[in-house]
Amino acid sequence: MHRQELEFEQTRTTILIGRGLLGRAHDLLAADAGLAPETGVYLAIDSGPDGIVADRHGRLLEAALGERVGLARGTFDAVESAKSMKTVERIWDGLLDAGVDRHGLLVAMGGGIVCDVAGFAASGWMRGIDLVLVPTTLLCMVDAAIGGKTGVNRPLADGGLGKNLVGAFWPARLVICDCDVLATLGQREFRSGLAECLKHALIDGEEALGAFERDLPSVLERDPDALPDFVARSAGVKASIVRRDPRESGERALLNLGHTYAHALESKVDLGLLHGEAVALGLVAACRAARAAGLLPDHELEDRVKRLLDRCGLPSSLPAGVRVELGALRDVMRLDKKSRGGRIRLVLPRGVGRIEVVDEVSEDVVDAGWAAILTAD
Ligand SMILES: NC(=O)c1ccc[n+]([C@@H]2O[C@H](COP(=O)([O-])OP(=O)(O)OC[C@H]3O[C@@H](n4cnc5c(N)ncnc54)[C@H](O)[C@@H]3O)[C@@H](O)[C@H]2O)c1
Repeated sequence: MHRQELEFEQTRTTILIGRGLLGRAHDLLAADAGLAPETGVYLAIDSGPDGIVADRHGRLLEAALGERVGLARGTFDAVESAKSMKTVERIWDGLLDAGVDRHGLLVAMGGGIVCDVAGFAASGWMRGIDLVLVPTTLLCMVDAAIGGKTGVNRPLADGGLGKNLVGAFWPARLVICDCDVLATLGQREFRSGLAECLKHALIDGEEALGAFERDLPSVLERDPDALPDFVARSAGVKASIVRRDPRESGERALLNLGHTYAHALESKVDLGLLHGEAVALGLVAACRAARAAGLLPDHELEDRVKRLLDRCGLPSSLPAGVRVELGALRDVMRLDKKSRGGRIRLVLPRGVGRIEVVDEVSEDVVDAGWAAILTAD
């Protein structure tokens, strides 16, 4: 089992990565999340397609936690429209019914949607209770569960969705990544997680990118013995950046590589993109924008990223015929939390392991990024 520690201001987050961890949940929570016989526990569980997460992985977790006073559970649909205040209120009602007091625990199990929304609920319940995350997607293991960002979406005036516009930093005390749960994850969702792994490797440097390229075949086969090391490496990149800059006053912004484009794409709900697919497109756009901004001398990095995305089964352009209105996309980019005073800031690569935040990017540079992923009819 891999163990990583992360100090986030007053909270120490322990991240455990391995196999067969769900069955040991009671002991892990007792050791690293302060679970005691009298602790009230509420489980917020992703239902998963056909109930698979709740029925299979959730039941295993519940069985491991055993019969306890105050153990209650609720199941939640992992769709972006449900990453909302309504769901936060449902969780608060669940905590109330279960009698979870301020010494209790909220355990969220699922992908980034359920973990983000449950984390936000934990931040507000009784002014904040301890949170345990049990991520069940690759993306959530390497990214969403680490670093304390929680939140919900807000509807936009044009009918789109403002991603993560309301939220709080509320780091989990414990993150349990049992890679065995990835066996049931849909192919598209699994590949979506690879986009964040690729992003981490690009940020970390050539060694990490080389390891990503080398391990990809066994990871794509979901070799259960290869997954824990792969997840640990990628999660470790995020953890080490968050350790140095918890509140994103500097270096942490680099983790948004590709995300300003991705969030704009995700706001167009009709495109039906998963988060990782939008990030994949965002990485290509960021490479092209970097070239337009004079940070990259040629297309070499963009081509390498596209080849890797292709191997991952991820898109590097939008399907032919998809129409998007650039002005509207730019407006969403201005809403991005990295933007200041309506000016678009982008995180762009100067090379592998050389990522920079660029202030006041010109419209031409922004549009060059869009041109890279919009396919001509
Ligand atoms: N907080 C952060 O720092 C952070 C970082 C990255 C992404 N996010 C957020 O994470 C969300 C995306 O999360 P995601 O990609 O983890 O997926 P998700 O939560 O969107 O879930 C994807 C699908 O997989 C299903 N699923 C989950 N685990 C499964 C399993 N083991 N087997 C079968 N099906 C399973 C879910 O029910 C859902 O249908 C977005 O809302 C994004 O904004 C947050």
